[in-house]
Amino acid sequence: MDRIKTALDKRRQGTHYADRMHRILGVCQDCGLLWHEERVAFTNGSSALRRVHDIEPVGRVFVTPRYEKYGLHVNTRVLPRLKRMAPQFAYALNVPSTSVEVDGNTVYIRVPLEEAQEDGLLTFEDAWSIAESIPVGSLLLGVDDDRRQLVLEMIAPTNVHAAVVGMTGSGKSTLLKTMILSAQRIGGSQVALFDPSRGLEPLSGHPSVWRGGLFSNAADCERGLEALANQIGRGLGRLTYVFVDEVPDLIAQRPQIKQHLARLAQAGRHAGLHLIIGAQHLLASDVGSMTLRNIPVRLVGRVSDPSAAYQATGRRDTGADSLRGRGDFVAVNGSLTRRFQVAYLSDADLEEWARRYAPRDAMVPVRPEVLKAQTAPVHALAHRAMGSGGDGRPPDDIPEEALREIKRYVRQHGHRPSLNWVYRMTKEKLPTGGFNRDKARRALRLAGQAPQQAHAQE
Ligand SMILES: Nc1ncnc2c1ncn2[C@@H]1O[C@H](COP(=O)(O)OP(=O)(O)O)[C@@H](O)[C@H]1O
Ligand SMILES: [Mg+2]
Repeated sequence: MDRIKTALDKRRQGTHYADRMHRILGVCQDCGLLWHEERVAFTNGSSALRRVHDIEPVGRVFVTPRYEKYGLHVNTRVLPRLKRMAPQFAYALNVPSTSVEVDGNTVYIRVPLEEAQEDGLLTFEDAWSIAESIPVGSLLLGVDDDRRQLVLEMIAPTNVHAAVVGMTGSGKSTLLKTMILSAQRIGGSQVALFDPSRGLEPLSGHPSVWRGGLFSNAADCERGLEALANQIGRGLGRLTYVFVDEVPDLIAQRPQIKQHLARLAQAGRHAGLHLIIGAQHLLASDVGSMTLRNIPVRLVGRVSDPSAAYQATGRRDTGADSLRGRGDFVAVNGSLTRRFQVAYLSDADLEEWARRYAPRDAMVPVRPEVLKAQTAPVHALAHRAMGSGGDGRPPDDIPEEALREIKRYVRQHGHRPSLNWVYRMTKEKLPTGGFNRDKARRALRLAGQAPQQAHAQE
């Protein structure tokens, strides 16, 4: 034991760490895990008992901004029991909780610091300045337990897409903002921003933002995501990060969004598109099981219980259910897990960014008519095929804007406009082009102006 003590004291002044390591080893001893005896046979026929150590302390304590980590080299035969001993360690150390993490042959007992002992905030600048030249294709997350800068290489074939999961207040939106700002500062990519809660707004004015701003209402988000999904199959486009916060909320409002996300998750990478989605829960019933399978990277913050931790990470032993909120996260990809603290982007930093690049709303793409016809509901197609009256188009292909203009004309002139006027107005205002006579008539009808026969005059 003295060996441990001196080893520890060499690195950390005081006996606090050595004392805690003693207590941890004491618990192991009480449970009979520290060593076992094996009988060894000698060539002369005699035999003797030999003590084999199953647990040896790692001679160094890791102190992260919010935790102490005590490492033990462990014989795998005691691993299963050790993994269940977090409550005993907490009791012996007189702390509310601990967690036991396995990393190869090393087991870490993770002990949360009291809030007063925690280091101050880890800011974006702190994390950024550890290594300023992050390569294009990677995004900044924060720092890991060794206080090394942690970045996520999105363009690595095993990563590609990521989901940020955790309960409200866990720091999901903060992490998204950190990733977005890092993309904007690194350069060489564009970011598409979708967020019904508008939390990403301060980052929406930068020139790298796809279609010039933030998509916030669900209908606009649906259009935007559809347009991105339609880029698939046209070859590798520009490197684009597609950030979508509050995904279950968006899908609940616009169910089509689920399909667009599924396409992006499945084949987006062939078009240079990388998804980063934010959600409180990652349920297959909300998001779709295909989409979940195609998003290998999970960045998980505080979750409510072990089953939510399992859903979020796809694994049982990540310790995600003991995360503490406010940027305490674990990154999981298959069997790899890495704890980290998210770099925090303060309101003041965001405001400064927003002053330089004034936030804007996105120019929402308009669906081309062709696509509209292809995606028209089955009954509408059947209707048209049977020629049973009307022209079979869904009634909403006359945009509100056109109707508004017609009504304004009527208010100003006291009579309805001509079909030519409707043609010129729609040609000027709508990206889909001018209305033909049929469509202009329907527009007049929809605007409350009864259709008539001869009205080519001005
Ligand atoms: N990395 C962090 N460091 C410190 N505090 C954080 C961090 N992330 C979040 N917080 C705190 O938690 C609050 C909620 O964060 P937010 O990102 O909005 O969470 P979520 O989107 O998961 O609801 C923030 O206002 C901030 O006070
Ligand atoms: Mg949020």
